[in-house]
Amino acid sequence: MLEQKVNIVSHQKIAPDVFLLSFRSDYLAAKARPGQFVHLKPSGPWPLLLRRPFSINRIKGKNIFIMYRVAGRGTSILSSLPQGAELDVMGPLGNGFEIDKKYSDHLILAGGIGLAPMQFLADRLKTMKLNARLFYGCSGKKDLLPCAVPGKVIATDDGSCGYKGFVTDAFLSRINKFRTPVVYACGPWPMLKKTARICRENKIDCQVSLEAFMACGVGACQGCVVKGVKEYLTVCRQGPVFNSREIDWEQEATL
Ligand SMILES: Cc1cc2nc3c(=O)[nH]c(=O)nc-3n(C[C@H](O)[C@H](O)[C@H](O)COP(=O)(O)OP(=O)(O)OC[C@H]3O[C@@H](n4cnc5c(N)ncnc54)[C@H](O)[C@@H]3O)c2cc1C
Ligand code: FES
Repeated sequence: MLEQKVNIVSHQKIAPDVFLLSFRSDYLAAKARPGQFVHLKPSGPWPLLLRRPFSINRIKGKNIFIMYRVAGRGTSILSSLPQGAELDVMGPLGNGFEIDKKYSDHLILAGGIGLAPMQFLADRLKTMKLNARLFYGCSGKKDLLPCAVPGKVIATDDGSCGYKGFVTDAFLSRINKFRTPVVYACGPWPMLKKTARICRENKIDCQVSLEAFMACGVGACQGCVVKGVKEYLTVCRQGPVFNSREIDWEQEATL
């Protein structure tokens, strides 16, 4: 993990309240794995105490992309930064997805901005010549976010595009098509909880990427713990990616 100063290379709005930002980092391009994240803040004035964590959305050459939704003050400030502005970035942090060639189908389930880490994962699966499939759910056509994966299934809550209903139901309706699938999921807590249940009932291995409020980002403050079935787990260091069986899904949702 390195802390470094980088400059914004590109920054654009790609959907209502959603931005795609890129910066150059030789170090992250060489070291980062899908599912890992960066902890960042602007180098200039920053009225907030803490950095903000964002998954690595994609790496193209030496350019690192993050895709983020404006959720509050920090992301609102971030969204106003022009091309060339300097960021203070720590990363790569966390563990990332485990990719195992023993599976026949690598199924990516994403809800809303939970799509953010999945392009990097899809790109890596493609490089490894593994069979990837994306199931992506959002509220409606206007909220669709870009992700280049062949044969993706889109689900919208209002039915304005693709399957009408939850992404988990779209997945469940096709579950028998796959021989030895593995699922990688990221999205709101209820979606992850349902995905974990479906996978448990169908004996499918499932990895979930969780979010939690973060302070240090490196496992020192215990600010980001979630309840596991055996012990409390730090999302920043032991996660953000967990085997879905490690998580106590009955705890009060933190997402
Ligand atoms: C490992 C990790 C990776 C992430 N990757 C992405 C990403 O790729 N793209 C993206 O858009 N967002 C991502 N997030 C969430 C992002 O960090 C928060 O949206 C951001 O910190 C909000 O900052 P803010 O100052 O704008 O909002 P705040 O003012 O801090 O909060 C605004 C609202 O968002 C909620 N919120 C803030 N932080 C979190 C959090 N960590 N978990 C759940 N709710 C939160 C608060 O409850 C509040 O309602 C990630 C979070 C984690 C932990
Ligand atoms: S944010 Fe400090 S331990 Fe995770």
